[in-house]
Amino acid sequence: MKLVHTVVELREEVAQAKAQGLTIGLVPTMGALHEGHASLIAAANKENDFVVVSVFVNPTQFGPNEDLDAYPRTLEADCKLAEKMGANVVFAPSPKEMYPSSDDTWVEVTGDITKVLCGRTRPIHFRGVTTVVTKLFNLAQPDRAYFGQKDAQQVEVLKRMVKDLFFPLTLRVMPIIREADGLAKSSRNTYLSAEEHTAALVLSRSLKAAKAMYEAGERDAAKITAAVTADIEKEPMSNIDYVEIYALPGLEPVATPMVGSNLLAVAVKFGTTRLIDNVVLEEK
Ligand code: PAF
Repeated sequence: MKLVHTVVELREEVAQAKAQGLTIGLVPTMGALHEGHASLIAAANKENDFVVVSVFVNPTQFGPNEDLDAYPRTLEADCKLAEKMGANVVFAPSPKEMYPSSDDTWVEVTGDITKVLCGRTRPIHFRGVTTVVTKLFNLAQPDRAYFGQKDAQQVEVLKRMVKDLFFPLTLRVMPIIREADGLAKSSRNTYLSAEEHTAALVLSRSLKAAKAMYEAGERDAAKITAAVTADIEKEPMSNIDYVEIYALPGLEPVATPMVGSNLLAVAVKFGTTRLIDNVVLEEK
């Protein structure tokens, strides 16, 4: 496996792979790789001949008071895991490499899809994501790009971008990977104290209970979100940002009664750490 840091080097690797007729899988990450990322790289390895993993803590998707500086940076360990899972190239650029001029070229998906849920408290977040992912798509020219369902809103926004901008690639979405105790894997879990980690288990517990409610026939979204909110509020260390349901695809307003496929998404702070989790509610 090769570690490259520049756009020129990555372009060379990609050109060589293309010249050999290899298909390319891209796994965009911000590093601090865990089993969730490992599952994305493994899927990319299975479905493509050549796998590029990007490791870049993208400054433009962090708000002014967010954790850009604190975000874990573990490139050496990331390279080891990427290699083990079958990556051919790790691309770890500097911010200057990705944003060479004053960063005033943006790719932005507008409308409610980027304004609801995380978009409400993180107004510039998705513009940063779509801009950097566009750059990565243009550099790696992947046949397939891999993202985790844990970032369900990001997935919906990127699907819209890929469709609207006619990107010639398939977006592959992999299931949420959880710790044995149920906590969804996230690079930010390392911020949690032991007590906060235990408290945060309420997220997967309450989502599981909501799914059971849905499977038992409940189709009133307000009743389901009220039950999840009440469960989470019983946990004194929790501070809810949102507990909401939107219709899939596209995060449209949910119908009453619920029909089709719907996303129940939560964002909750434990101490200073904001965690997200979700479950899709749909008929089997
Ligand atoms: O999901 C992430 O880790 C990031 O948002 C992504 C897609 C790598 C863009 O920086």
